[in-house]
Amino acid sequence: MKKIIKNISEIIQVENTASKFISAKEMKNINTIKDAYLEIDEGKIVSFGSMNDWKGITNWNETEIIDAEGGMIFPTYCDSHTHLVFSHSREKEFIDKINGLSYQEIAKKGGGILNSVEKLRNTSEEELYKISLKRLNNLIQLGTGAIEIKSGYGLDLESELKMLRVIKRLKKESKATIKSTLLSAHAVPKEFQKDKQGYIKLIVEKILPQAVEEKLIDFIDVFCEKGYFTVKEMKYILKTAEKYNIKAKTHVNQFNSIGGVKACVELNAISVDHLETMEKEDYNALLDTSCMPTILPGCSFFLNMNYGPARKMIDKGIPIALASDFNPGSSPSGNMNFIMSLGCIKLKMSPEEVINSVTINSAYAMGVEKMLGSICIGKKANFFITKPISSYGYIAYNFGENVIDKVFLEGEYIKNPDHK
Ligand code: NIG
Ligand code: FE
Repeated sequence: MKKIIKNISEIIQVENTASKFISAKEMKNINTIKDAYLEIDEGKIVSFGSMNDWKGITNWNETEIIDAEGGMIFPTYCDSHTHLVFSHSREKEFIDKINGLSYQEIAKKGGGILNSVEKLRNTSEEELYKISLKRLNNLIQLGTGAIEIKSGYGLDLESELKMLRVIKRLKKESKATIKSTLLSAHAVPKEFQKDKQGYIKLIVEKILPQAVEEKLIDFIDVFCEKGYFTVKEMKYILKTAEKYNIKAKTHVNQFNSIGGVKACVELNAISVDHLETMEKEDYNALLDTSCMPTILPGCSFFLNMNYGPARKMIDKGIPIALASDFNPGSSPSGNMNFIMSLGCIKLKMSPEEVINSVTINSAYAMGVEKMLGSICIGKKANFFITKPISSYGYIAYNFGENVIDKVFLEGEYIKNPDHK
């Protein structure tokens, strides 16, 4: 049945033709239509415009009318970098952090990624699926309609595949658009502490081929960082994945700039993520490329560390995307509304720039820009209706309050599962 949304005070992020991504210079602009209607059919956007141009209803029996009650419509957020599938939260490390220990010191004491690995290995696939679905459903109510999810807390064949199968089930079960990424090179597991090369061999010879064979992955990732994986090791893993036509999205420059950005651009990575520590050669490597730099301000906020230099990047002509990095260790929230606030407050981006960075640009960073990221005819009808708000900048400004009233994915109203 066709659905018509009326009484929309403003539709945000409208496009006549879908862009690949928004360039740095254009990020300060956003197209909107005031006093508007939106028509959807079979899960897609079929028409939108000003109420004055609305041609009316041709078939009353097959049309559902939805009243936006003066709220705004935004395309749902695309969260292009998350670790949503994990077993337990890590509040103990949170206390260590409050008491002054660094992320690296906590990892050395048995916390960090390997702590999550131990817990995930001891959690059944069914249980992992249930808690991950619950997390995903919560995020949908906060406006996320597309999400990338990584493995990387299994770090052996069986447990990495367990995570990926959970993601595959989420893809089937949820109306959200999901992309999955193999991040077996997230850390070296304890059984390979003295044989890192042996672990890399396991990734490229066993885990990656099996994940490809079972059609479990869309992308490959490596945590390229001092104490984790070197640029040389990352290049070897990415080049192997390239043979299977799997593109890269990577963790680079979180704590140190060691040449990961340039290497990823040369290997045609779709995105490079984190970028808290940037040197001159990193900026240069990103200029005029089709690799989307992705900044994760939730991680800087939570670890109380430096933020990626978004303002400097945009001013130099480099576009950016923003994502949540939702994970139990460095960013235990996937709330993209808060990410927009951090974008404005901490990264000094304008509301228009943050909206572009969490919609069209982050859609590109996860390979879904043709179907998502804007209100555009032919794209999936993934959008949310807000409560009445005074301007589209209000979401970022009013941090901490949820102004999202109703979420629609593929044209379907997604009822909040917590509301009885
Ligand atoms: O993106 N930096 C590497 N990986 C995650 C953190 C993982 C964890 O601490 O569990 C991140 O910040
Ligand atoms: Fe991450």
